[in-house]
Amino acid sequence: MLNLKSEPFRKSNPMMNLMNNLIYDLPAPVNLSILWNSGSLLGLCLMIQILTGIFLAIHYSPNTEYAFYSVVHIMRDVNFGWILRNTHMTGASLFFMCVYTHIGRGIYYGSYLRSMVWTSGTSLLLSLMATAFLGYVLPWGQMSYWGATVITNLLSAIPKLGDSLVSWVWGGFTVSNSTLNRFFVFHFILPFMMLALTAMHLAFLHDNGSNNPLGLSSGMNIIPFHPFFMLKDMVGFVVLLACTTFVSLLCPLLVSDPQNFIKANPMSTPTHIQPEWYFLFAYAILRAIPNKLGGVLAMTLAITVLYMMPTLHRNIMTGMSFYPASQIMFWIFLNSFFILTWLGSAPTETPFTEISQLATLIYFFLIISIPALGKPWDTVIFQNDPHINATNKTE
Ligand code: HEM
Repeated sequence: MLNLKSEPFRKSNPMMNLMNNLIYDLPAPVNLSILWNSGSLLGLCLMIQILTGIFLAIHYSPNTEYAFYSVVHIMRDVNFGWILRNTHMTGASLFFMCVYTHIGRGIYYGSYLRSMVWTSGTSLLLSLMATAFLGYVLPWGQMSYWGATVITNLLSAIPKLGDSLVSWVWGGFTVSNSTLNRFFVFHFILPFMMLALTAMHLAFLHDNGSNNPLGLSSGMNIIPFHPFFMLKDMVGFVVLLACTTFVSLLCPLLVSDPQNFIKANPMSTPTHIQPEWYFLFAYAILRAIPNKLGGVLAMTLAITVLYMMPTLHRNIMTGMSFYPASQIMFWIFLNSFFILTWLGSAPTETPFTEISQLATLIYFFLIISIPALGKPWDTVIFQNDPHINATNKTE
């Protein structure tokens, strides 16, 4: 009988060899926690979004006259169209929950030190945000239209070039049919680029292997991916699929905006324009700065600052497992993120503006300083400890 794992068979079949190295014999640290499920869950989210998205695109019409009604048609007439759309909407939220967990895990355990993995990951985050923003415009509801108008207008803050850039992105003098058309094209294409970027992300990861909750070099404590993490990832998949099904079937409008049940009307601005929950923290940072260009720069920096994290690291050990003070700071950072998310949906008035400014300051101060906050602790504990050998140090 053909043995799929046999050396000669794998050597003669490069695809089999790749699969084997990717999910079968891949060496993995023995102590990976549930937080290491987030990566495979992100892969599952991407697949769910691509599959449901393709079927939705079959029935969707990217034209300002028809877009809104084509979505109504999907919900009412297309066989199981409602479940496709509900899953696609819910999938977007779960995707962001997984990605924020994935990044939080990376910050807490110092995984950003795998700099190529981290850099490709940050690019994946930017692509995901772009895809979600473009997708939200497609149903052509009031919030789609006005959200697109507010966000594209931010480009006008760029000195000299701004106004021309906005018209270029719109393909006209306002958010219009050309805008909807190109947004649809890019919303369709970007997930496939993310697929390619994910392949690079994993190739970089498998160069050195995974980090682990202790941040110590895992050395000999290595087990094969199959069956251990294969089964653990399957448990994660079942939970995620159960959550998607639950929300899609029982409360699909949980986080959606009622304004989007109204067809886009350029003559009537909603009193309160706000993005979906996953963009609220960035929106709060944008509004916290009382200057348009300053706000746009701060909002952009709030995400792109992740690119800098590998260079900011000064601690001796990887991760925060051995740094109690850093752990407290991490939880304060996380809370600043949650508070900003709340403030993104609050009106721009006292005291919300002032709290946003404070939370923005804390957010930036901590994300920049967290990788170096262990320095005083290092001088007391780790600096001259003979037990901390070269393999456990990050420098
Ligand atoms: C579509 C988005 C993404 C997908 C599909 C994805 C996929 C994965 C997978 C499958 C793993 C291995 C399993 C694990 O460690 O959880 C992983 C690891 C990793 N990812 Fe991502 N990822 C994505 C986004 C990101 C982002 C946004 C970042 C950071 C900004 C990031 C940073 C990392 C790092 C540093 C690791 C290594 C973790 C460690 O070994 O401790 N990834 N990713």
